[in-house]
Formats: sequence, structure tokens, C-alpha cells
Amino acid sequence: MAISLPMQLTVNGRLHRVAEPQGTLLDLLRDDLALTGTKLVCDRGECGACTVLVDGRTAYACLTLAAACDGTTVTTVEGLGGVDGSMNDLQQAFITHDAAQCGFCTPGQLIAAHDLLARHAAPSESEIVAAMSGNLCRCGTYPKIVRAIQAVAAARHEPSATSATPGVPRGA
Ligand code: FES
Ligand code: FES
Repeated sequence: MAISLPMQLTVNGRLHRVAEPQGTLLDLLRDDLALTGTKLVCDRGECGACTVLVDGRTAYACLTLAAACDGTTVTTVEGLGGVDGSMNDLQQAFITHDAAQCGFCTPGQLIAAHDLLARHAAPSESEIVAAMSGNLCRCGTYPKIVRAIQAVAAARHEPSATSATPGVPRGA
């Protein structure tokens, strides 16, 4: 008789063991781990709302089989801020620059922007637009998203260049 072993993966720094996941990584995150920050919108790899990091690379969680994530390290939008619930500088900049309206695309936008800034400390506007092209926003906040990313890039070079502040508690 075949014995099925649970898979394990680390999500936002926490190790999880999951028995025989049948669906997508997005199902696993939202339904099994109750990490509902990552959104389901198109469910076919077109909008980027479900963007997460798998072993440091962006992935559409709606197109990624959960079973293929055995042994991986996953970062979702819940993993960007502090463990105390504080927002990081990028999340704060999205608020400061009004880069979220309905907010449905925002978790995926934040992960994509986080990935961009990890690879390029000072991206040009065209590099930001290109890097964010896999993340659609039906509310049309694109210029504000670009400004938020530019502000964070500037602040990380020169902390006094913007009001974006790491670790600002939510609601503060
Ligand atoms: Fe995954 Fe749209 S929900 S790309
Ligand atoms: Fe509404 Fe982007 S803020 S879809």
C-alpha cells in the first residue's frame, strides 16, 4: 500500500506540513493556511493578483500546483511587514501615495514591487513599468504605484527623501 507523506513548506518564515494538497498554491494559502491576503481574481495567470514569492522568485499562485511547492520557501503579502502587524516602508508608501483603491490587486502589486526593489535598488520609471507589467489594476492606479515605488527606492538611499517609514504600526 502506498504511503503518502505530507509535504512541507515554509511560508512567511513558518514551517507548515500539509497532507496531500490537491489544488493550487493559492488554494493552499487561502483555504488551508488562512492566509487570505493573496487574492484570487482571474484564476488563469492574467492579472497578477495572486503573485507570491516561491524560493525568491515571483509566481502566480493560481497557476502553481501546491504539490510542486514541497520544500520551498514562500512569501506572501502577510510576510512583508513586521511580525507585530506593522507595515513595511513599501506598504506605507502605497498608502501615502494612494496607490490602492479597491485594493484587490494590491497584495500582488506589493509582492512584485518588493521583488523589483530587491533586484534593483534604484529602478528607472520604465524599469518599474516593465517589472510591474504582470500585475493589472482595474482601478487604474498605475501612476500612483510607480510613484510609491520610486519613493521607497529614494527613501532607501536617503531616508529623509520621503515620509515612507519602515515598521509603522497599522492604524498609527
Ligand atoms: Fe492568478 Fe489572476 S488570480 S493571475
Ligand atoms: Fe482596485 Fe487595483 S486598486 S484593482
